[in-house]
Amino acid sequence: MSSDLSTPAANASAPSRRDFLRTSTAAALGTSLAGLAHVPAVHAQGSDEMKVALIGCGGRGRQAAINAMRADSKNRLTCLADAFGDQLEAAKGGLLPALGPQFQVKEDNLFKGFDAYRRVMDSDVDVVLLCTPPHFRPEHLKAAIDAGKHVFCEKPVAVDAPGVRSVLATCEEAKTKGLAIVSGLCWRYDWGVRETIKRIQDGAIGDIIAIQENYLTGTLWHRGRKPEWSEMEYQLRNWLYYTWLSGDHNVEQHIHSLDKALWLMGDKPPVAAVGMGGRQVRTGPEWGNIYDHHAVAYEWDNGVRVYSFTRQMAGERMFNETEDIVLGTKGQARVIKHEITTEGDKWRYRGEKPGMYDVEHAELFASIKAGKPINNGLYMSYSTLLAVMGRMATYTGERITWDMALNSQEKLGPERYEWGDVKSPEVAMPGKTNFA
Ligand SMILES: NC(=O)c1ccc[n+]([C@@H]2O[C@H](COP(=O)([O-])OP(=O)(O)OC[C@H]3O[C@@H](n4cnc5c(N)ncnc54)[C@H](O)[C@@H]3O)[C@@H](O)[C@H]2O)c1
Repeated sequence: MSSDLSTPAANASAPSRRDFLRTSTAAALGTSLAGLAHVPAVHAQGSDEMKVALIGCGGRGRQAAINAMRADSKNRLTCLADAFGDQLEAAKGGLLPALGPQFQVKEDNLFKGFDAYRRVMDSDVDVVLLCTPPHFRPEHLKAAIDAGKHVFCEKPVAVDAPGVRSVLATCEEAKTKGLAIVSGLCWRYDWGVRETIKRIQDGAIGDIIAIQENYLTGTLWHRGRKPEWSEMEYQLRNWLYYTWLSGDHNVEQHIHSLDKALWLMGDKPPVAAVGMGGRQVRTGPEWGNIYDHHAVAYEWDNGVRVYSFTRQMAGERMFNETEDIVLGTKGQARVIKHEITTEGDKWRYRGEKPGMYDVEHAELFASIKAGKPINNGLYMSYSTLLAVMGRMATYTGERITWDMALNSQEKLGPERYEWGDVKSPEVAMPGKTNFA
């Protein structure tokens, strides 16, 4: 991966908490605060004020809007877009008191429906926050870059290979246009994780032999069914459980683990993946067609293997853990714990830890204003494909190479988005479900 696409290196200094956002971004961008103050803001039309739109006004989106406003007191939230009117109203009701004068959304800037995102692109906003279910990301990202907007882009960035290919092309376009794309793969913006991974890559545990990725967790929300909902509305409201909308939970959630594995491997893709998975607990139709567990072994061309495990099952006595366990020739590391253990020595990150969700927005806006837009395009696409490739392996039982995954023609979801009936997708069956 070329360095201009990577997240800026971690800030080694330890600024005071009061100044952490400005100093971290300035240091990460390799510029001084004094310098930053004199760089004209791009796309701000002569003022420092940046207008921001939120597309996808659910839990993460509302929080991202707050993170974006905290990044700079001059930022203004001016548009909200969502598939559903009640989500727009709930977001407005929550964000107005939370943001105070930074909330500047007028009634005619509340956009509803599948086409709501297009109205945002026609508006005068500088930055869009893409926070819908992942299925829609490639289309929304392309529209944003075509319209000259900077982007905060939640993970994952697609649910299938055609989506990943589209995102890769759009991110190249963003580079040529000088537009920023910051990914919601938030651990890349966590100071403790950055320092731990930097030390591992500098040789703290020798050469990496293997990585175990655990995302062993309980279940998430289910929003039920109302008689007045069409099947499309039902699936969209419960998008987590439909592969065409979420990618399955190893894509939607476990991508955080797989992204750290990719980062540890120098953002170089693996050769192949073999896996198994299924639905053991969530077997009823209300759970759509996703699996409840996946176990995938990825192999790299240098012999390193990543063993990745994820399950979403509830049970008081079950062992739950989200951790990246890195085994090296001279020791071990636990990335989320920020801990490195070698013979006779244990290191742990004890520096400052500003919230990673705030840091990603602080760096996004600082990079725009510095005229050095961050582009996380390559790794966010590769991490998404890494997860999709794992799902291809668990759904089919086949050994899936990176090239197969990247060139797959399988396009998930309906041809058109309309309220009404939509197919209830089948649960994949290894041996019967073939790679496409
Ligand atoms: N980085 C993180 O730690 C993190 C945490 C949670 C969620 N996420 C990601 O954020 C995204 C949103 O997750 P969430 O938890 O907010 O889900 P959510 O269901 O709470 O919100 C999604 C919103 O998008 C709306 N929506 C659906 N289809 C749309 C469309 N075509 N156009 C416009 N709006 C549409 C929904 O009505 C809903 O309001 C997902 O990609 C998820 O993976 C990231």
